[in-house]
Amino acid sequence: MSSLAAQVAEHPRFHLLPQSNQLKALMTIIRDKNTKRSDFVFYSDRVIRLLVEEGLNYLPVVEKEVTTPMGVPFKGVSFEGRICGVSIMRAGESMEQGLRDVCTSVRIGKVLIQRDERTALPTLYYSKLPKDIADRWVLLLDPMLATGGSAIKCAEVLKEAGVKEDHILFINLICSPEGALHMLEKFPGLQIISAEVDEGMDERKFILPGLGDFGDRYFGTE
Ligand code: URA
Repeated sequence: MSSLAAQVAEHPRFHLLPQSNQLKALMTIIRDKNTKRSDFVFYSDRVIRLLVEEGLNYLPVVEKEVTTPMGVPFKGVSFEGRICGVSIMRAGESMEQGLRDVCTSVRIGKVLIQRDERTALPTLYYSKLPKDIADRWVLLLDPMLATGGSAIKCAEVLKEAGVKEDHILFINLICSPEGALHMLEKFPGLQIISAEVDEGMDERKFILPGLGDFGDRYFGTE
């Protein structure tokens, strides 16, 4: 791991999935350029499911007592606060089902951010967010965190809509150390949940070693 990647992995608001052999095997399959599309989708979905489950660990809970079928009281917890998903189109849409599988009837907003050809700045082209998003915790969905340009723009859009910075959980499969540090510095409340931190980016800002273009491989538009 490079020193920058190690810095990210140790950051208190950066949460790496447990680096189990299972996760490493799933990630090896999706990183392999010879993996066929159906397997890419299947194994990406498995990693997404793990990420969403991990993300839910960072939501607040309150104490709750129930009675078991044995007639015995049990002191447990229940989730406090409502959530929603926001996917960054198009690749982030691949993560929506994973969220729905875990949180039935969850509300999901979308944003489309692209680089303006004139200014080269990430520009918002479309957004549709739940009306009460300011009162929710937001799971921000984008599989690859490269420079962080789109994700930063999206977090700004969420904040303008009233979302509290520390209510944003950004979920991705692979991040570049530069992108992750940039986001964590820019938003001192936001948390990132990721499966792996890579080494860096190439001159086209693709993550290395990475897995190529996630959206193209997932949606079959290579
Ligand atoms: N988006 C991708 O799909 N892949 C990368 O490597 C970077 C951004």
